Amino acid sequence: MNKELRRAVIAGNWKMNKTRPEAKALIEELAPLVAQAKCGVVICVPYTNLQTALDLTAGTNIKVGAENCHWAKSGAFTGEISAEMLAEMGVEYVVIGHSERRQYFGETDVTVNQRVRAALDAGLKVILCVGELLEQREQGITEEICSMQTKIALGGVSEEELKNIIIAYEPVWAIGTGKTATADQANEVNGCIRGVIAKLYGEAAAQAMTVQYGGSMNAKNAEELLSKEHVDGGLIGGASLKAQDFATIVAAASK
Ligand code: 13P
Repeated sequence: MNKELRRAVIAGNWKMNKTRPEAKALIEELAPLVAQAKCGVVICVPYTNLQTALDLTAGTNIKVGAENCHWAKSGAFTGEISAEMLAEMGVEYVVIGHSERRQYFGETDVTVNQRVRAALDAGLKVILCVGELLEQREQGITEEICSMQTKIALGGVSEEELKNIIIAYEPVWAIGTGKTATADQANEVNGCIRGVIAKLYGEAAAQAMTVQYGGSMNAKNAEELLSKEHVDGGLIGGASLKAQDFATIVAAASK
C-alpha cells in the first residue's frame, strides 16, 4: 500500500461464529496483542456479540463493526437490524454486500446501495464488499463485475461521504477455500477499483481510499499481499477467529 496517501485497515469478519463467552475470551486475548498497531483494527461480530465487543474494546484501539444492516430506519422487517440501532449502541462500522449475503440471502447491487445509504445516514462507516465468482473470473469479466458492483453500491454517495467507506475486494472463489488470490491478482483488481473511484470522484479521492483484500488472507500470506501498492489492508474471515493469527496480520500491516 501507499502509506503516505492512505491508511491500512485490518478488519475481522467473524461471520456466524462465537458465543458471548467465546467472544469475550477472543477479545481479551487479542486486545494486548494489537495495542501497538500502526494500522486501523476493526472486529465485525455477530449482533449478539456487539455489546460484549463494545464493552471489552472500550479504551483500546480496536473498533467494533456489525456484519450487515437493513436499509429502513425501523418498521415491519422481522429479524432485521437497522443502521440507527447499531449507531445508537456505539457501533462504528458495518460490513455491507458481503458475498455470503449476496449468495445465500438474495442481496442485490440495488439493496447493497440502499444499505450503504442507510449506514452513512446513521453515521456508520461502511466496509463495502465486492468480488467476482469463479465463473466470472474464468470468463474474463472480473474487472467489469467489480466495477459495476462498486458503481451501483456508491450511487448517491458524495465525495465527503466516501471518506466513511472502505472497499473490500473479495473474490468469491477465495473465501473460506484456502485459495488466495495471488498478490498480483489482488493488486490488479484493487487497482481497477481505485480507477473506478478516480473516474467517479477524482484522483485525490481515489488515492485516499482504503481498498482491502479479503479471501483466505492469513498469518502466512498477509505480508506479501499487503506489500502491493493497491492492497490497503484486509478483511479477514477464518484467521480473525484466532487472536495470534489476526495479530500477526495486524503486525504485517503495521510495518
Ligand atoms: P476467509 O478469510 O475465511 O476466506 O473469509 C474472507 C471473508 O469473507 C471476509 O469477509
